[in-house]
Amino acid sequence: MAAGNAAPDFSVAGKVVLISGGTGGIGMAFANAFAACGATPILTDLKPPPEGTPFRYEPLDVRDDAAVRALAAKIERLDVLIHCAGRLIRHEEHQPEVFADIVNIHLTGNMRLATAFRPHLARTKGCLINIGSMYSYFGAAMIPAYAAAKTAIVGLTKSLAVAYAEDGIRVNAIAPGWIRTEISRRGREEPAFNEKVMARLPTKRWSEPEELAGTAVFLASPAAQLVNGVTIPVDGGYVAS
Ligand SMILES: NC(=O)c1ccc[n+]([C@@H]2O[C@H](COP(=O)([O-])OP(=O)(O)OC[C@H]3O[C@@H](n4cnc5c(N)ncnc54)[C@H](O)[C@@H]3O)[C@@H](O)[C@H]2O)c1
Repeated sequence: MAAGNAAPDFSVAGKVVLISGGTGGIGMAFANAFAACGATPILTDLKPPPEGTPFRYEPLDVRDDAAVRALAAKIERLDVLIHCAGRLIRHEEHQPEVFADIVNIHLTGNMRLATAFRPHLARTKGCLINIGSMYSYFGAAMIPAYAAAKTAIVGLTKSLAVAYAEDGIRVNAIAPGWIRTEISRRGREEPAFNEKVMARLPTKRWSEPEELAGTAVFLASPAAQLVNGVTIPVDGGYVAS
């Protein structure tokens, strides 16, 4: 980095950004934001993007080791990996097999992708962005697997930041607040749950996925070169309140 009074470099132009869960609400908002900044998103997901989506799409189940390795072999260059795939199943996560499946998607899936793409990121001195949640900070009676995995993402982010530093790879996470997407739909539509969230939330509104994108772009940019191993709540002040 040049000394002096140069403006911070927030540029991500030319970077290739692979997004798991990329056709979901937050994944697609990230893809659009990175593309608008001159980067090239690659979407991976269980479900294909809508017709006409202008980005490369690779089908992927993040629970499938062989499929993750096969995708890594197909991708030539990667600067930014974002693990956005996610699912929750209200009331059912106390069943051990459901618990294991949800943890597999969020946590083991994160590790699986990180391991498969570490060599790519090492070549570009790239970065990994993981996705936590408000449930990284407190418990959730209805979705214990989701909350356990999201809490563990904070620890995994620190561990991988330390482990990958020798390759020049930075690892951080975003903990989104209450965002209007499919995964949160049932909670939003349930008056008692909605009221409880709004009572604590300083901004008093559900947020749009686009409101997270600036933080993702920042974390991927040279301006964040010293930011490593942290989970940043982007939550309208919920954790603080
Ligand atoms: N929306 C919120 O309020 C909120 C808050 C905190 C954290 N998050 C997290 O943000 C991330 C993105 O969620 P979203 O809000 O965009 O929800 P979403 O439901 O719109 O997107 C999730 C995407 O993950 C995909 N997916 C599920 N299982 C998968 C698998 N096994 N392999 C590959 N893809 C799979 C789904 O097909 C979907 O496209 C998730 O990790 C979620 O837990 C969301």
